[in-house]
Amino acid sequence: MSQSTTLAARSGQFKIGGEFEVNRLGFGAMRVTGKGIWGPPSDKREAIAVLQRVPELGINFIDTAESYGPHVSEELIHEALAPYADNVIIATKGGLTRGGPDVWGQDGRPEKLIADAKGSLKRLGVEQHKLWQLHRIDSKVPAGEQFDAVKSLLDQGIIAHAGLSEVSVDQIKAAQKIFPVATVQNLYNLANRQSEDVLNYCEAQNIGFIPWYPLAAGDLAREGSVLDKIAKAKGAAPSQVALAWVLRRSPVMLPIPGTGKVKHLEENTAAADIELTKEEFETLRKAGR
Ligand SMILES: NC(=O)c1ccc[n+]([C@@H]2O[C@H](COP(=O)([O-])OP(=O)(O)OC[C@H]3O[C@@H](n4cnc5c(N)ncnc54)[C@H](OP(=O)(O)O)[C@@H]3O)[C@@H](O)[C@H]2O)c1
Repeated sequence: MSQSTTLAARSGQFKIGGEFEVNRLGFGAMRVTGKGIWGPPSDKREAIAVLQRVPELGINFIDTAESYGPHVSEELIHEALAPYADNVIIATKGGLTRGGPDVWGQDGRPEKLIADAKGSLKRLGVEQHKLWQLHRIDSKVPAGEQFDAVKSLLDQGIIAHAGLSEVSVDQIKAAQKIFPVATVQNLYNLANRQSEDVLNYCEAQNIGFIPWYPLAAGDLAREGSVLDKIAKAKGAAPSQVALAWVLRRSPVMLPIPGTGKVKHLEENTAAADIELTKEEFETLRKAGR
């Protein structure tokens, strides 16, 4: 095996739902769409090149959603990567609506969730979703009805495992009464750790925690900051060290940095090779709080 195909593997492995093993450093396919996550990308060749480079770098966990484009991200994944290798997990989501660039709404009615999951099967060209996520719990619809819809997707075999996104510990516990929660996808990075309690709960329950916006480092990315100094000492970019910190934070952490550029994808994946000492990890933990 060449150096590059094993790169993402150096981030460690996690079994989604105790069944599907992935390399922990994944890819977020939201940024291969047009501006405002709307319509086709401005450079389709580059978007396809990014997606085709993903498995070449050893990444086998790809996050997407029905609403990215809408549909564009899923369709491009299909075009670039089908037929998929057996070890590739494409985790999609449903339950949002789109009104235009950067305009997002929620629709958690059971019929919409089921239609979204079935539509994603066709667009991705798969018979079953190995992981499907409820993009948001819609406050206009009783949560129990949305959880029942997810359960029916599991029962029908349309999805093998189910995840949640942007949820509290109480919401995870409520969902767990209806179906096994395999993953949780919340905003989390070195500088934004508001979901620390959710992460701790996921770790205790062996639920995969998928931090979105994992590259962000807020003020810590500035010249002369602790992060900047550690990054310079390692010959790395601050965003790479921020990602290495997130990876080291928990064995259930499955970051999905996203980009529409091959160069950025390669740079982000190289974070799998960055080892932080305990001291560096603790320094950054305190600085990012
Ligand atoms: N569950 C949810 O509600 C939710 C919400 C948002 C996102 N997500 C998922 O999480 C994934 C990641 O989130 P995200 O895209 O918001 O955050 P991110 O991956 O932390 O950051 C992406 C941004 O950073 C830029 N970037 C990436 N690599 C870079 C590099 N090496 N150097 C400089 N800039 C770089 C990208 O622009 P370029 O394209 O120019 O590289 C893009 O603007 C998404 O793809 C999506 O799958 C989920």
